[in-house]
Amino acid sequence: MIAMLVLGIESSCDETAAAVVEDGRVIRSNIIASQIETHAPFGGVVPELASREHLDRIGSVVDSALTESGVTLEEIDGIAVTEGPGLVGSLLVGLSFAKSLAFVTEKPIVGVNHIEGHIYSVVFENPPVAYPALALIVSGGHTTLFLIPEEGLYAVAGRTRDDAAGEAFDKVAKLLGLGYPGGPVIDRLAKSGDAAAVDLVFTIPRMTPPSLDFSFSGLKTAVLRYVRENKILPVADRNHPDQVIVDLAASFQDKVVRSLMARLRKAAHRYRPQTVILAGGVACNSALRQSVAAEDFGAPVYYPSPVLTTDNAAMIAAAGYPKLARGEDHGLEITASASMKLDNISLEDYEERHVQPSAISYQLSE
Ligand code: KG4
Ligand code: ZN
Repeated sequence: MIAMLVLGIESSCDETAAAVVEDGRVIRSNIIASQIETHAPFGGVVPELASREHLDRIGSVVDSALTESGVTLEEIDGIAVTEGPGLVGSLLVGLSFAKSLAFVTEKPIVGVNHIEGHIYSVVFENPPVAYPALALIVSGGHTTLFLIPEEGLYAVAGRTRDDAAGEAFDKVAKLLGLGYPGGPVIDRLAKSGDAAAVDLVFTIPRMTPPSLDFSFSGLKTAVLRYVRENKILPVADRNHPDQVIVDLAASFQDKVVRSLMARLRKAAHRYRPQTVILAGGVACNSALRQSVAAEDFGAPVYYPSPVLTTDNAAMIAAAGYPKLARGEDHGLEITASASMKLDNISLEDYEERHVQPSAISYQLSE
């Protein structure tokens, strides 16, 4: 059988990325141009700067992805591009570029939900996903538990009520003067910190069991309160922060990891999936990876290597592959959908079809 080659394009936030993927699971090239240096001085992504930089880079990033893969544009069988969620200006750059390529080459094009892309980031380095699957996607903008009864169907089992986990890492790092993005720096510091040395007291919104929703804004406020009450100053030298900051980072990270693990554990216990998936930028976190690897979910747990965990286009090509293989072509009408959702079946439908009634009566406790 002849291989199917998909060109993936991703520009939803602060990475301009393009990749060529064969048959949905072999990476022929994976080019990522990060904008971290552009946004770091501002402590977060500046949308106008992001779109401008995507515009500057998209051509050469796609060129490099093709060159490195040894595949010509004519040999590509289809294009997969992120259509949302994300920054509208940034999304439009990738979409417009992808649509022009599809127009001139007369190739099919499909729009991909960025979060679905993260779910597909596990296909490259793991055995095939067995369904039903349970996926925890933890990124800068999302913290969501998905139930996936079969490829392409998604029910939301839990989501954050306020901040996303990555957003909490970024806000806490900013507060402590640790720079952007916050996740990697807190992860590194926490390794030499004592999580028990700082007691962060916080509450989460009242949730009716069996809610699997998350909440991180109370924890972020607890860090802020601790900093104020103890008159802690933001770090002067990022390479040598005071021990109290290091311990604070460790304590904060520990609370985030415990909260994510508690719900993932409950969800796995309740829904008994065949595969557990952990993906999205925060899945790079070493403490979270350790906890997940040490846990027995009753099913194998798949997560991607770090380069495929944060935003990339290989995952977009992989998510687009089954659509293109089915003959889908979304045409030139696809456009940016800044707050695009990923839930095409309701939780009630999922529970009716896939959950034993006896499993429904559990309580969520932490
Ligand atoms: O998936 P991603 O690259 O972009 C979005 O779709 O949002 O995720 C970026 C997020 C940022 O909030 C960043 O701080 C966080 O992932 N992150 C981490 C780590 N590496 C990246 N959070 C915790 N620990 C890490 N090692
Ligand atoms: Zn992402």
